[in-house]
Formats: sequence, C-alpha cells, structure tokens
Amino acid sequence: MSQRPAPSLLLLFLLMIPGVCSQWSGLGVSYSPSHICALQNSSVIMNCSYTYPTEYWIMKVYWTKTRVINNVESPDLSEDPEYSQRLQYLGDKQSSAIRLSHVTLKDSHEYYFKFITDITEGRWTGYPGVTLNVTDLQVESPERVTEGDSVRLTCKSSCTLTDRATFIWYRNSQPLTTGIIGNQLDLGRVSREDTSRYSCGVDGHSYRSPAVQLNIRSLEEGVISSW
Ligand SMILES: *[C@@H]1O[C@H](CO)[C@@H](O)[C@H](O)[C@H]1NC(C)=O
Ligand SMILES: *[C@@H]1O[C@H](CO)[C@@H](O)[C@H](O)[C@H]1NC(C)=O
Ligand SMILES: *[C@@H]1O[C@H](CO)[C@@H](O)[C@H](O)[C@H]1NC(C)=O
Repeated sequence: MSQRPAPSLLLLFLLMIPGVCSQWSGLGVSYSPSHICALQNSSVIMNCSYTYPTEYWIMKVYWTKTRVINNVESPDLSEDPEYSQRLQYLGDKQSSAIRLSHVTLKDSHEYYFKFITDITEGRWTGYPGVTLNVTDLQVESPERVTEGDSVRLTCKSSCTLTDRATFIWYRNSQPLTTGIIGNQLDLGRVSREDTSRYSCGVDGHSYRSPAVQLNIRSLEEGVISSW
C-alpha cells in the first residue's frame, strides 16, 4: 500500500503557505526600541534594522512621519522645515537611525523607516513604526498644607522616562541634596520656612519644570479657617 499523507496533514501544509510567501519577499524593518519617552529639549535616537534579498540594490532610505495614502510617496523628514535643522541620519546597509535634537511636545508622533530598491516591488515601509512621546515635567503638590503636615512633592511626566533617570529638585532655584526619592521630594514635617518655589528636572538635561509655589499656613490660620 502506498503511504499517503493523512488529510489533516495536507490541510496543515496548505495553511502554512501564506506565511512562507510573505517570508519569501524578504523585506522587513524592525525598530529597537519601538517606544521612546523623551524629555522636552533632549535628543533622541530612533533606530531600526532592515532586511532585503541580497540581489537587490538599495536606491534610497529615509524616515517619515506620514503613512502612504493612495500610493502618494510619504515625504522625507529631512525635507520638512520643522525637522531638517534638528535631524541627523546615521546608519549603514542593514541599519538606519536618526538623531533628533531639541524635541518638543509637537514631535510626539509615530515615525516610519522606508527603503526603496531597484526592483519595483522592492519598496517597504516599516509599520507599525516607532512611537515617540515627548514629555514636560510638572510639580504636583498637595492643595492645602499646614505646618506640621508631612509633605511630598511629585515630579510628573506624561510617559515613563527610563529607570536611569535621576530627578533633581530645586528650592527657589537652588538644587536640593536631601529628601529625593525617585521622582518625589520628601519634605518631611513642614514648617513655615519651607514656603518656597519648587521645581524639578532630570540629571544631565537642561530642561526644568515650571516652579510651583508651596504655601504653608501656620497652625493658628489652619484652626481659624477650619472653624
Ligand atoms: C541600533 O540598534 C542596533 C541593534 O539593536 C544596535 O547595535 C545599534 O548600536 C543601535 N544604534 C544606535 C545608534 O542606537
Ligand atoms: C504616547 O502618546 C500617545 C499619543 O499622544 C498616547 O496615546 C500614549 O498613551 C502615550 N504613551 C505613553 C506611554 O505615554
Ligand atoms: C535646550 O537645550 C540646550 C542645550 O542642548 C540649552 O542650551 C537650552 O537652554 C535648553 N532650553 C531649555 C528651554 O531648556
């Protein structure tokens, strides 16, 4: 008797074909990292590696923030006046990176890498792209503070900065050296002398949050106003 593959095996084989086809095209882009949280005014590097069949020639590579719609080519970021002065291309035949300096909140966006080869079908945009989130810093303080209260201020960002970010705190523009715990400033039990303007930043970055005035009411005021 001849050995024929069981029908279930045949079905499995057929189901695998689409996967094989998309691999065969040999074009691809992968980003590392794919999410970036950056502090306002800092520099970021968006990085990817790309693959294509060895017999293809690369004609053009570029980064864009526009998706291809109706086959209209997406514009090169380096030709965008909002970016051109702040953009630097790095890379080789398998990887590409852009360095964007002085990022602003408006730069929060998804960015894509695109490459074009000498083969008509050999053009590729890496979707999904790199998500860049640019954050500022805001000091959060309790609304009402009376002397003797234990107070903690928080330096808030809209996305999580890397765990290597070291927060710095300032009282009336003077850097503080004690009480810093992660992104918080522990003032302990406060007295009237703690009435000051507080701001925060991250070590190695010039950006600083707006200063927040912490007003501390005396115990007597607290008693009077709670009547
Ligand atoms: C880009 O990523 C690759 C692989 O993860 C790494 O080897 C390379 O150093 C990175 N380049 C930059 C500029 O970060
Ligand atoms: C990054 O920004 C996008 C768009 O503003 C937002 O939807 C997303 O939640 C943000 N991600 C983080 C990690 O903050
Ligand atoms: C932005 O960064 C540059 C240095 O890279 C610094 O000179 C400038 O003061 C910074 N601006 C703000 C608003 O932090």
